[in-house]
Amino acid sequence: MKKLLFLIVVAIALPGCGGSDEGGSSGTTSAGAELFNSAGCAGCHALSEADANGPVGPDLDGMKLDQERVKEQIENGGGSMPSFRGRLTPEEIDQLAKFVSRASQS
Ligand code: HEC
Repeated sequence: MKKLLFLIVVAIALPGCGGSDEGGSSGTTSAGAELFNSAGCAGCHALSEADANGPVGPDLDGMKLDQERVKEQIENGGGSMPSFRGRLTPEEIDQLAKFVSRASQS
């Protein structure tokens, strides 16, 4: 019984270990999701990892965006998307770009 419990704990802990080699804290994803909502991205974009269903911009799920591309879009806007430079700190933009690029891989 004890052994089974140990196996379950290992099985749950293992996938979590995969993210640690990026050097980010384990809270990055949820903080990113929170930013996605608080910054207003969710009003325009759908992104399932952030529970967002915005109908205006492209659905970011599955777009496999790279971090630089997302960062550029957040800083400069484009199409009918506003620029967020000055509304978000550079740290927030980095965090958001990292989150969105990761979340858009699936
Ligand atoms: C007012 C609505 C609106 C808001 C708010 C908004 N976007 Fe957008 N976004 C758009 C539209 C529209 C496009 C498509 C632009 C185009 O056609 O070039 C877009 C494009 C993008 C793209 C580019 C996708 C690609 O094809 O490369 C990314 C990434 C993105 N948005 C992320 C975000 C993030 C992150 C936020 C929050 C900081 C955000 N957007 C806020 C409307 C919005």
